[in-house]
Amino acid sequence: MLSIKSLTHVYANGTRALDDVNLEVPTGMFGLLGPNGAGKSTLMRSIATLQTPTSGSIRFGDIDVIAEPEQLRRTLGYLPQDFGVYPRVSAHDMLDHMAVLKGVADGKARRETVESLLNQTNLWSVRKKALAGFSGGMRQRFGIAQALIGDPSLIIVDEPTAGLDPEERNRFLNLLAEIGEHVVVILSTHIVEDVADLCPAMAIIVDGRIVRQGAPTELMAGLVGRIWMKTIDKAELEAAKARYQVISTRLFAGRTVIHVAADADPGDGFTPVTGGLEDVYFSTLAAARQAA
Ligand SMILES: Nc1ncnc2c1ncn2[C@@H]1O[C@H](COP(=O)(O)OP(=O)(O)OP(=O)(O)O)[C@@H](O)[C@H]1O
Ligand SMILES: [Mg+2]
Repeated sequence: MLSIKSLTHVYANGTRALDDVNLEVPTGMFGLLGPNGAGKSTLMRSIATLQTPTSGSIRFGDIDVIAEPEQLRRTLGYLPQDFGVYPRVSAHDMLDHMAVLKGVADGKARRETVESLLNQTNLWSVRKKALAGFSGGMRQRFGIAQALIGDPSLIIVDEPTAGLDPEERNRFLNLLAEIGEHVVVILSTHIVEDVADLCPAMAIIVDGRIVRQGAPTELMAGLVGRIWMKTIDKAELEAAKARYQVISTRLFAGRTVIHVAADADPGDGFTPVTGGLEDVYFSTLAAARQAA
């Protein structure tokens, strides 16, 4: 269990990237959803002990993460948003090297670790290929392989699916889901489906604040009777935005489908829709921005 209390991070230039963040993260996949600049990477880096927060506390089981960063590092697997190291070294050799750095000293144990990770991430057939020549999906799978060295019990992956094609994205998410059965996995993303597909618990972060958290199913249940849709012409969109709280717009067959948040039937040709996680996200964003 990861427990974050009153966590605040103010960068040297005055940007308050985290503002009194409180989170309880249980075993399993946890989705941290938020738009660009919300503070996701700042939070991930703070948990990963790469930067020290301005104030607040982070505990992982018995470990006081801020006071004992080296304790956490021993049990942490981290895939940063920009992994950025793609040298002309083969996947196998790089993984072996990283296992040495992570303290897997015994040669036989290391060979087993490296081989099993290459298999698990489906990189066995390309293990002799240079990382520099890997595709985006292969890179991300390599990123997960290196994060899994040493059987971590806390795994942090920061926006891992950005830029992956649907097939690679699926493959990657399935891999995470398998891992997430026994350990804490925090997945940060701005892609709603990533969370909807595999996270039993989630939080939404906007402007450094956690504005909503819970199980996706509960959050969706909270929307019953509050989301309405209508298909309009593009020319009517501005008027609709002025009149209703439009939380999302989507083009469909050349027309515009809008979703509106309202506690009562707006009439005017709207029909009720069962809100999905996307409606939870967009209505939360709209409310947070209105409050700001
Ligand atoms: N080193 C830094 N110095 C100053 N400000 C920073 C620094 N890193 C991030 N910020 C600011 O802190 C805020 C949160 O940034 P962060 O990278 O944590 O967001 P994010 O949710 O990860 O965004 P994205 O989805 O684009 O990756 C932003 O306003 C950003 O400009
Ligand atoms: Mg980020």
